[in-house]
Amino acid sequence: MTYARIIGTGSFLPEKVVTNADLEKSIETSDEWIRERTGIRRRHIAADGETTSEIGLRAAERAIEAAGIDAADIDLIVVGTATPDKIFPATACIIQRKLGIAGCAAYDVSAACSGFVYGLDVANRFIQTGGGRTALVIGAETLSRITNWEDRTTAVLFGDGAGAVVLQANEETGIISTHIHADGRAEELLHVPTGISIGYEAVQAGEAYIAMNGNAVFRKAVATLDSIARETLAGNGVDKHDLDWFIPHQANLRIIRAAAKKLDMPMERVVVTVDEHANTSAASIPLALDIAVRDGRIKRGELLLLEAFGAGFTWGSALLRY
Ligand code: UT7
Repeated sequence: MTYARIIGTGSFLPEKVVTNADLEKSIETSDEWIRERTGIRRRHIAADGETTSEIGLRAAERAIEAAGIDAADIDLIVVGTATPDKIFPATACIIQRKLGIAGCAAYDVSAACSGFVYGLDVANRFIQTGGGRTALVIGAETLSRITNWEDRTTAVLFGDGAGAVVLQANEETGIISTHIHADGRAEELLHVPTGISIGYEAVQAGEAYIAMNGNAVFRKAVATLDSIARETLAGNGVDKHDLDWFIPHQANLRIIRAAAKKLDMPMERVVVTVDEHANTSAASIPLALDIAVRDGRIKRGELLLLEAFGAGFTWGSALLRY
């Protein structure tokens, strides 16, 4: 059996930090409301000209270095992002060029907050079926570009950042299974209501902003994260108590706590970064993973459950032995 194993992780956050206190100055909100309702304390925001490919590249370079491979060894680059640099080419192609390589497959996956888990699913199947030996999966976002900074219902929630993993074929251990789903009927509960073929004017005017029915999304997220966890564990005959780490998408601490409770996971075994990074969509899981790997919490051989939920709706999970 061939597994896709994570052999290196990396992440990158833009230098600029915006705190809840900073937001209090421009919109009618409070640090207390944001912390109590979301767990968020601060977020990183990309500088002018700091693009998704740029921050994705920095995360990728760190993952490649940690993996100890040559970038030329990469057979596939998948970037999960909802904020690509350009309409085309894909951000993955731009990152490929910036890595100084050419020839391998490179494309973006558009699955909003589930983009990284979708990318992991694709790369896992690519490696398992012999499409190649080495894959680079990145989640990178500059959500600040599609955030209406005057809308308090969304402005407090999002941040920019990137995370990446290098996967390599391995006979012994790695990704055990991935599970991905979507339900397009929920389109209008969480979306950017404008775009390219639907009408380009708002994009040109710089007014293509995230719109969300937060409460409905919240309820759906809690229920869906529970069902995907059950599906993943049952599909592999794994008991929830066998999990070493839970690494959920970082949208809201209340959602994370609810999901952890259903898994009977103590919060010390849940990687939480939403307080420091806010919701970085496709970047949130690989960012959290990299941080917990680098600070020594996650160790080789441990059993990890990754879970995502986002616009679409899309959702997914990965069960893996690190
Ligand atoms: O990553 C993709 C998935 N996304 C998510 O999972 C996000 C899911 N949703 C959430 O995290 C939460 O629903 C929010 C954090 C967005 C909102 O929390 P909530 O507990 O669902 O609050 P709410 O939307 O029901 O709003 C409660 C009140 C409202 O006032 P009224 O109508 O009760 O008077 C809002 O107007 O809070 C008000 N409010 C705010 N007050 C201060 C909304 N935003 C703010 C704000 N500051 N920033």
